[in-house]
Order: sequence, then C-alpha cells, then structure tokens
Amino acid sequence: MKMNRRNLVSGVVAAAAIATMKLSEAADGTSGGLPGKNLFYTRENPGRWESKVGSHVPTLEVSGNVVKLKTPHPMSDEHFIVRHTLLLADGTLVGDKTFTPSDTPASEYALPKGYQGKIYGTSFCNQHDFWLVETAV
Ligand SMILES: [Fe+2]
Repeated sequence: MKMNRRNLVSGVVAAAAIATMKLSEAADGTSGGLPGKNLFYTRENPGRWESKVGSHVPTLEVSGNVVKLKTPHPMSDEHFIVRHTLLLADGTLVGDKTFTPSDTPASEYALPKGYQGKIYGTSFCNQHDFWLVETAV
C-alpha cells in the first residue's frame, strides 16, 4: 500500500477544523461560502455516499464523562477507517486517534469535567470521506 499518511492526516485535520468552525451552518449548506454539501457527511446528509451510511456513520456512547466513538466499518489494507476525532461545541479538540488497517475503528475520550453541550465525533474513511455524528451531553 502506498500512501502519504502525513498529507492524508493533515487533510483530515484541516477538514475537521473547517467543519467545526461553521458546523451548524455548513450542515445545511448555507454557511458563508463553505461548501457544506460534500464537505462532510451525516446520516441525514450522506451526499454521494448514501449507500455507505450503515458502515460509515460513527456512533457515540456516553457514560459519565467517557465517550466511546466507533465506526462499524470493515478494516483492510485497501479500505479502512483512518482517523477519529472528538470535538466540543466550540471546536475544542478533545482527542483524536489514527488507525492502521489492522486496528479496530474505536476510540475513547474523557470529556472535560462538568462539560455540558454538544459533542461531535468524526470518522474518516480512506475511500468514502469524512463523516460526522453529534449528540448532546
Ligand atoms: Fe469506506
């Protein structure tokens, strides 16, 4: 497998930053010039990947201040989940995890003590782009 992981991960981080800056606006495609459509995908807005929703929309499980982020996606050298991130409503990065094809696409984070509000989980597939899920705690 030939891949420039540094460039790929940098791209994912940049996409996460852009998505976070205007998250609620970008989701409906009405942000100030940002291409919400096809910038990231959700269960409600899967764009060109409608047939991929089941294996690409990540899940968030919250228990106390612990958040588990999982993507129900098979992992192989050719097709795998590259990275997860967890962000707070203001864009603060709680944590991230980069995967190899032999990993299980699951990650765990600790929320700041007493945090209340929305949280955003992201999952990036090397073939099917950048997916986002949100919930409130
Ligand atoms: Fe995929």
